[in-house]
Amino acid sequence: MTYQETYAAWKSDPEAFWMNAAKEISWFKPPSKALFDENAPLYEWFADAEVNTCYNAVDRHVEAGRGNQTAVIYDSPVTGTKQKISFADLQSRVASLAGALRAKGVEKGDRVIIYMPMVPEALEAMLACSRIGAVHSVVFGGFAANELAVRIDDATPKCIIAASCGIEPGRVVHYKPLLDGAIDLANHKPDFTVIFQRDQEVAALKDGYDFDWHGFQAGVEPAECVPLPGNHPSYILYTSGTTGQPKGVIRHTAGQLVALNWTMGNLYNLNPGDVFWAASDVGWVVGHSYICYGPLVHGNTTIVFEGKPIGTPDAGTFWRVIQEYNVKSFFTAPTAFRAIKREDPTGEFVKKYDLSCLNALFLAGERADPDTIIWAQDQLGVPVIDHWWQTELGWPALCNPIGIEELPIKLGSPSVPVPGYEFAILDDAGHPVPAGELGAITIKLPLPPGTLPNLWHAEERYLSSYLNNYPGYYETGDAGYIDEDGYLYIMARTDDVINVAGHRLSTGAMEEVLASHPDVGECAVIGVTDALKGQLPMGFLCLNTGADRNAKEIVQEVVKLVREKIGPVAAFKLATVVDRLPKTRSGKILRGTMVSIADGKDFKMPATIDDPVILDEIKAALQAIGYPKV
Ligand code: COA
Ligand code: AMP
Repeated sequence: MTYQETYAAWKSDPEAFWMNAAKEISWFKPPSKALFDENAPLYEWFADAEVNTCYNAVDRHVEAGRGNQTAVIYDSPVTGTKQKISFADLQSRVASLAGALRAKGVEKGDRVIIYMPMVPEALEAMLACSRIGAVHSVVFGGFAANELAVRIDDATPKCIIAASCGIEPGRVVHYKPLLDGAIDLANHKPDFTVIFQRDQEVAALKDGYDFDWHGFQAGVEPAECVPLPGNHPSYILYTSGTTGQPKGVIRHTAGQLVALNWTMGNLYNLNPGDVFWAASDVGWVVGHSYICYGPLVHGNTTIVFEGKPIGTPDAGTFWRVIQEYNVKSFFTAPTAFRAIKREDPTGEFVKKYDLSCLNALFLAGERADPDTIIWAQDQLGVPVIDHWWQTELGWPALCNPIGIEELPIKLGSPSVPVPGYEFAILDDAGHPVPAGELGAITIKLPLPPGTLPNLWHAEERYLSSYLNNYPGYYETGDAGYIDEDGYLYIMARTDDVINVAGHRLSTGAMEEVLASHPDVGECAVIGVTDALKGQLPMGFLCLNTGADRNAKEIVQEVVKLVREKIGPVAAFKLATVVDRLPKTRSGKILRGTMVSIADGKDFKMPATIDDPVILDEIKAALQAIGYPKV
């Protein structure tokens, strides 16, 4: 079938389409129907089924005689380690860990926070939770103790599984002190922790509270896969919203299984047994869907890569991994390619490797600029597929579906709607705008299986953030347009979320941290354009009267504060002191205008501006720190 035919088949009978996709999943009790819309606009999929994610990702492949196939490849240039884990090995490791968790009282529905770097044990921890129906919440290692504490208080986990340390180029990330600090800060206290001790740093464990990963598994009965309702939450993944309180995106078990499994063949063009590599991190949605669950459920080999695109040891590291493990489809963020291109513009490293195994490169997480796409196409000689999705959606909503049909690529567009998603570009009043006109990107309800059914313990926020503005539609938070051929173009966010090196960050959260500095009276954080990371956060500080200290000192202090409170991943290094912030007459800070000035772009003087002179002051402050960059 062509793309058009497949899309039309879905649209004319979504129920049949998803029930058909559900046949690929191994059920304890198959679903009687796909969509449960009794509580619309809250929707569920396959709710009356019984199923287990870990069984589908691991055990069923062993039972089908594929136990010897490699499930997980661990490649860690930062520690000089390589390891292959077969499906049979994975089964015994995960069953043992799950058994140990159960023996310590972790049961179906209990939350478990996972705070680990890119080691295979992180996947094992996720799968062990799935095995017994515990709801995991993975927290990215680049977040500080305070961010971890916020997630502990929201998810109220029974236990936290962590590693002793992570390795960033040039430094060891001390996870255990961060974890201890977070537990001290949090109101909720988990019953216990499990620590995976790494050779690079062995953490001191508190007797009776911190349990050693291996020690606590000794002598326990391995756990079997527990049948779970189709609408059982598989995990909570926190993502940035407009405030310092992150949103707990929930994923339901059955919908996730059906949808991810469907994408592996239809979007990524893979057969079971093929090697798939998503160079991201388990702390992000890409890590959940395409390092852990998607490939394993579909019977693909997945790669856990602990390194960076450059510097570990060089700009050829991605090509080495692709050649060494015979990677068929590769997925990363455009930033990674920009970093490689900057180090190796003529592709000298590319030439050193045989990349004939590679069929396609997939980019997502941020805008893929045409220069980067063209460079990647020229270097790799394979289709470079920009595709679009979000933590909330869990799997691609816009994609060139090469497993169905390879469509023409249009630079700057992540292509067309994937079956399951019907897009509408709406104006402020909720009316569709004509092709080519900019508007809010929305998706008609119901969203397909595997997308978020709600936010964790925050239904009101779910409704107000996503559903209330455009009744009958899910609001993505992105603005863009659709062309005459049905290709979508993503132009900007409509909220205070910025995208730094493919990481989604909240400027609102950073403003909360800056405002907590005793000398800061008022502040604003904007995202300025950056050639490598796409965007970088930049802070503007108005100091309290009497704060007569050196402005440079205060800037250094707030930079340190954001690193301490949010974490290094915020990449907050730019800030400047100004007397006043530009505002509308009603007091709204003109962040968009400030972005235009910092980026050196022309802008229209906002009609509602209170005092245009302030823009000259902002311009001068930016010039003093080297902006706009020419
Ligand atoms: N644990 C602890 N710290 C982390 C971390 C982790 N897992 N990941 C990143 N950090 C730290 C980095 O060490 C850096 O700290 P620094 O300020 O001390 O240098 C900071 O967070 C910012 O990290 P990042 O924005 O990733 O920049 P970088 O300078 O380390 O690397 C690139 C630049 C372009 C190589 C890198 O951003 C990259 O490869 N990004 C890929 C994007 C990606 O995978 N996105 C996921 C979505 S698909
Ligand atoms: P996250 O939830 O971290 O995956 O971030 C999702 C957001 O990243 C989207 O809402 C977009 O703003 C941005 N994004 C993701 N993929 C793309 C893409 N292919 N093109 C442009 N922006 C993207």
